[in-house]
Amino acid sequence: MAPLSVAEQSRLENNMKNWTLLFSLLTVQTLAEGPVASSIIPLPQKIEFRAGTFKLSQKTKILADLNSTNTAELLAGLLRKSTSYPFVFRLQPFSGATPKNCIVLTTRDANTNLGLEGYELTVATNIIVIRGQTQAGLFYGMQTLLQLLPPEIFSTNGVMKMNWQLPCVRIEDWPRFPWRGLMLDVSRHFFTKAEVKKILDTMALYKLNTFHWHLVDDHGWRIEINKYPKLTSVGAWRSDIGFKLNPKASTAYGSDGRYGGFYTQADIREVVAYAQKLHITIVPEIEMPGHSIAALTAYPELSCSGQAPVAHRTGVYCAGKDASFEFLQDVLLEVFELFPSPYIHIGGDEVAKGNWKKSDLCQARMKVEGLKNEEELQAYFIRRMEKFINAHGKTIIGWSEILQGGLAQNAAVMDWIGGSLEAASQGHDVVMTPTARCYFSFYQSPDLIAEPFNTFSWGDVLSLEKVYSFEPISAKLAPEFQKHILGAQGCVWSEFIPNLKEAEYMTFPRLCALAEVTWSARESRNFADFTQRLKIDNQRLRQLGVNFRPYHPETTGQIGCWTPAQIKTNAAPIEWDVTNNVNAAGKCCINFSYTEGHSGIEIAWVALLEDGQEICRDAHPGFAGIDPGGSFYILNIPTPKPGARYTLRAQVAAGTFGRRGIGNPIKQTDSADVTDSNGIVFWDLKPISKQP
Ligand code: ACM
Repeated sequence: MAPLSVAEQSRLENNMKNWTLLFSLLTVQTLAEGPVASSIIPLPQKIEFRAGTFKLSQKTKILADLNSTNTAELLAGLLRKSTSYPFVFRLQPFSGATPKNCIVLTTRDANTNLGLEGYELTVATNIIVIRGQTQAGLFYGMQTLLQLLPPEIFSTNGVMKMNWQLPCVRIEDWPRFPWRGLMLDVSRHFFTKAEVKKILDTMALYKLNTFHWHLVDDHGWRIEINKYPKLTSVGAWRSDIGFKLNPKASTAYGSDGRYGGFYTQADIREVVAYAQKLHITIVPEIEMPGHSIAALTAYPELSCSGQAPVAHRTGVYCAGKDASFEFLQDVLLEVFELFPSPYIHIGGDEVAKGNWKKSDLCQARMKVEGLKNEEELQAYFIRRMEKFINAHGKTIIGWSEILQGGLAQNAAVMDWIGGSLEAASQGHDVVMTPTARCYFSFYQSPDLIAEPFNTFSWGDVLSLEKVYSFEPISAKLAPEFQKHILGAQGCVWSEFIPNLKEAEYMTFPRLCALAEVTWSARESRNFADFTQRLKIDNQRLRQLGVNFRPYHPETTGQIGCWTPAQIKTNAAPIEWDVTNNVNAAGKCCINFSYTEGHSGIEIAWVALLEDGQEICRDAHPGFAGIDPGGSFYILNIPTPKPGARYTLRAQVAAGTFGRRGIGNPIKQTDSADVTDSNGIVFWDLKPISKQP
């Protein structure tokens, strides 16, 4: 990945502004061109449709200059599969008479103003030219070309009797952000090498360029490390799938019946090389110092107690033992060899500091190093690792909490629960992945009864529209620091995702929306237009055998909200009149969706009252806040009584981001005395006869 220089970025943005007006006119024209012409995702920066069409035929040739041979071969291979035409390939610089009926890929005379990932695509009636400075640019031009063709072009088998025609068009295109990513958690659920490749293929279709591989977490260590074989012989396996999932929903079992799996170093090399061909950088994540149960089960001597951790969130490397650092450095030496990525993700999130508080060695370290508290010990841990990683020519990136106790000198921050403003305005690079916009493990609709995979999901609702309307650059960030926002990525956490089919369902089309957020001009975003294009895009995904959630506008209603005035530090009821909403017997799904404030709300239970008498209750504990969990409630509503008054009552108290002991990275608010939470309450009643 090659981030644009400041000058390049500002030139592109000026360019973009000049084109905004023309662009809005062209969008209208685009829609008038018919569905195929208007279905490119992400939307190009400049597009001008022209009269006429180009038709692929048995005789269409592919010509490329020497630099572009690999990309041309890739295109020829893709086109051959579905069309069954030969697409004879010729190595030929453009010269003399304009060749006919051919597709040309060239770096010659490329417009350097379009940046290192930009391209120009011209489709005329007898020639198609893709031009770019780099092979990444040509690759993206190729993706756009494929999207101008009928969706059957993505078929993996020959499709007969197709009219392989595309509209004449002139496109100039470049990405808005240099980091356009997706994170996949392969620790909670192990995805095979083939499954990861399929996800990479689909990312490439949308011009995404960064795959963040969450290889290590409490529930499984997935990368072979030669020096520490127990990481995978022990740490890659668990006795059952857990998370209350159906064990039959997954195939990730070893021959001895244990749940899990891992990638050999040869597997990793293969996947990295595969991604490189798709112009995707793989950023590996090796979690530290927390989320380390799997590693510490294999090597318990690295924990503070010397015992394997048993309880959730106690898997933390001992910061008082030099052996912890030596171990992680050894691991990283092997990781550096496998991944050319300039970034190494070191996790850093949700580090429960209880073990460190009790450990003599950690306390002694704090004394020697002059560290005031465990947050500073965490900063010491990260800085010490950063020094090692920097010395090997790599940059660290870590989750929001690496801000605690002071940010390491050259670190980049991945903002999931805040910290981007602070980090960017100190000159650190930032990747945006806020839970409320980018966590694809959240439900896609408050109507979770209608969701096919509704066992449980982390947190809240993240609708397609909410992803689409995400703006990675906060209005609060001063213009001179905006260049530090590298982009954004979707995160697929797999606690409740036991197989690829469900992972794809959670990812698509939300990733398509995020692709547009990170690639296209901000001014060009238009959700109605996007959902039109998505109809064709869904057909592409169908051809590719990718499972996706079909988009349909929400029917779920909002019954009210909560505001700071209603929230107390101790549990107290809040009520909403739902008389008009209780109109049939059925299952009702209620969702508490946090919108803003430093705190969230802890929910003890939710009940429905009929003329003041409770008639049903869901009594699981939930939290609606920046890192939500269990904020959905399901009530089994009996046949309503005519004329009765119905009230929804929730027992709530102020709760902080730090309810799990993790704390707001900017400001520790572990005490529940902040009552400034705001949010919306959604209600969806499925009458018995209409339940899926
Ligand atoms: C995270 O979701 N714990 C980064």
